Amino acid sequence: MAVKQAQHGVLPEASHDEAARQDFVFGFSKHVLSSVVPGNRVAYERRVGPAFEKREGRTPRDRHELRHAMARDAQYQVSSALQRTTQEMLWDSVGESIERQWDTLRDNAQKLTRGKTRSTLTLDPELAMPNYIGHNDHHAMPGGYATDLADGDIFSGALYDRGAFIYTDGLLGPHMEGSGLSVLRFLQARFPDLQPRRILELGCTTGATASVLSRGYLDAEIHAVDIGAALLRYAHARAEAMGATIHFSQQNAEKTTFEDGSFDLVVTNALLHETAHQAIHNIIGECHRVLRKGGVMVHAEQPQFEGMDLFKAFTHDWDTYNNNEPFWGTVHDLDLEDLAVGAGFSRGNVFQTFAPGAAASAGTSDHVAVDPKKIMGSDRGGGLKFYYGATK
Ligand SMILES: C[S@@+](CC[C@H](N)C(=O)[O-])C[C@H]1O[C@@H](n2cnc3c(N)ncnc32)[C@H](O)[C@@H]1O
Repeated sequence: MAVKQAQHGVLPEASHDEAARQDFVFGFSKHVLSSVVPGNRVAYERRVGPAFEKREGRTPRDRHELRHAMARDAQYQVSSALQRTTQEMLWDSVGESIERQWDTLRDNAQKLTRGKTRSTLTLDPELAMPNYIGHNDHHAMPGGYATDLADGDIFSGALYDRGAFIYTDGLLGPHMEGSGLSVLRFLQARFPDLQPRRILELGCTTGATASVLSRGYLDAEIHAVDIGAALLRYAHARAEAMGATIHFSQQNAEKTTFEDGSFDLVVTNALLHETAHQAIHNIIGECHRVLRKGGVMVHAEQPQFEGMDLFKAFTHDWDTYNNNEPFWGTVHDLDLEDLAVGAGFSRGNVFQTFAPGAAASAGTSDHVAVDPKKIMGSDRGGGLKFYYGATK
């Protein structure tokens, strides 16, 4: 990989053999994405599309018809199988490395978070785990977000941190800052006068975005919520190692304990597509509730399907059926304006727009081939990012 992930107190270190395996997975995945997956469009244009038209007397009406037709084609079957396999290999290559050093990583996390710390963590062992998290391993990550294996466990946080770095081919930058930086740059460009005193991130995972926001808005008090305890222990230790001040708490983003109107800015970054239908309505409602009048809600997401070229929509929908992202498709079909209005925002205050993505923000575009990463499902950090939100 052209970009190396910066070491911090709890990042798993790869031994020689583990690094070799992770490099192989990275190279193999890149090969599949840039040399095998593009064959799907060729298969569609030359074989699958013409056969569909001959049979039905028309072109496919939507991405679902297109997918059913493609699912019978050998090229698509092979490319999908290879993509899924590389995804599983990715998590395996990181997971075995974490298992080897689990004791050390957990001890490091405990040392970093012992006594008086600049960041804080509040866990809630009684918190009910929603089924869409507890019963699903999102993006095929073993154990998903909810797993909490033992006292002081940080496994899922370490798995996400290292796995996401490899998955995005280092595009997010050495400190995994690219995704958060793209949100910060978007906010600074769109709301130049916003000087938030209290910021809330919902679905913070390892705290990567919250850390960037804490550096971008130096006077703000930053709160970051996630549902997974092991993620949050890792996030707290990571924040301490990196010198960030963030108040982490284990809460359901659908219904938090924060007071009405107590935040100037509420952010999610890649949360919405991982939550079930009713949950999204609840989360947008919660954003509205905790924002003060004039406050800003912003969600960084994958683009909606509406208006998208049919074949592109089909490729973007790959994760719904092949990568344990069951809500991906339906979320990207939602009418986001209606969603915000239903939660109490005024229609005229809702925005949906694109802005530079993580690679551009992290300055890694030149180091890594970005375009092939836009091929299937997520853009893996390349290209433009979609922003949806509203002012209250
Ligand atoms: C793709 S990750 C978000 C990445 C993170 N925002 C970042 O910038 O690196 C989605 C996160 O949302 C969390 N999540 C999903 N549903 C949630 C809910 N109802 N309440 C709180 N967190 C939730 C998951 O546990 C997971 O950590």
